[in-house]
Amino acid sequence: MRSTLERYQRIASLYDLLDLPFEYGRYRRIRPLLFQGVSGRILDAGVGTGRNIPFYPPDSQVVGIDLSPAMLARAARRARKLGRSVELHRMDVTRLDMPDRSFDAAVASFLFCVLPDERQVAALREIGRVLKPGGILRLLEYVRPKGALRSALARLWEPWMAWAYGAGFDRHTEQHVPESGLELLESRFVVDDLIKLISLRASEIKGESKGRL
Ligand SMILES: C[S@@+](CC[C@H](N)C(=O)[O-])C[C@H]1O[C@@H](n2cnc3c(N)ncnc32)[C@H](O)[C@@H]1O
Repeated sequence: MRSTLERYQRIASLYDLLDLPFEYGRYRRIRPLLFQGVSGRILDAGVGTGRNIPFYPPDSQVVGIDLSPAMLARAARRARKLGRSVELHRMDVTRLDMPDRSFDAAVASFLFCVLPDERQVAALREIGRVLKPGGILRLLEYVRPKGALRSALARLWEPWMAWAYGAGFDRHTEQHVPESGLELLESRFVVDDLIKLISLRASEIKGESKGRL
């Protein structure tokens, strides 16, 4: 089976083109929601080709991480074009080579629908570890729609999503939150019953262990 790294190395050069209808039809209007009310040092986990860069708050310092060097190269190019300084690193979200409590906020768009369920607690805990107490994590994620027609369409679409991106609509990200030590603040649909904005908060209690795996 192809690994996530191999998939994104393979698809990086086509990624923006393949995603274009979704980017302009769906994502552009919801990406700003990731950054509402957040500032300071921000982690963009699974930064991909840097599609969130135009929406980074002007005075923030953003660090983007991704498994795929080819995706990161595209993010670097986008940052340069936009005249935006972004620190980019090749890193696995389940093993962040970053100090505890070093970020004011974190975002991840369409990363958790790529991460298999069995790696999600590790990823959430690791992001929680690097967030300052009270720091916000915002996610944009696909879920499987409930309505019969949409659900049938999603199932038709799923084999391509799985083959091309290693993604699925069937992840249970919210169910992993209690085990991660993060607090669920809000979860709401922002595109039909298909894409959710999930807001989480790192524990405010000083000195509390954030449980590195
Ligand atoms: C579907 S793309 C989303 C990219 C971008 N966030 C966006 O909104 O367009 C998922 C990205 O997550 C990255 N990724 C997958 N698993 C990862 C992991 N364990 N750690 C870091 N990045 C990962 C992939 O390489 C890919 O660039």
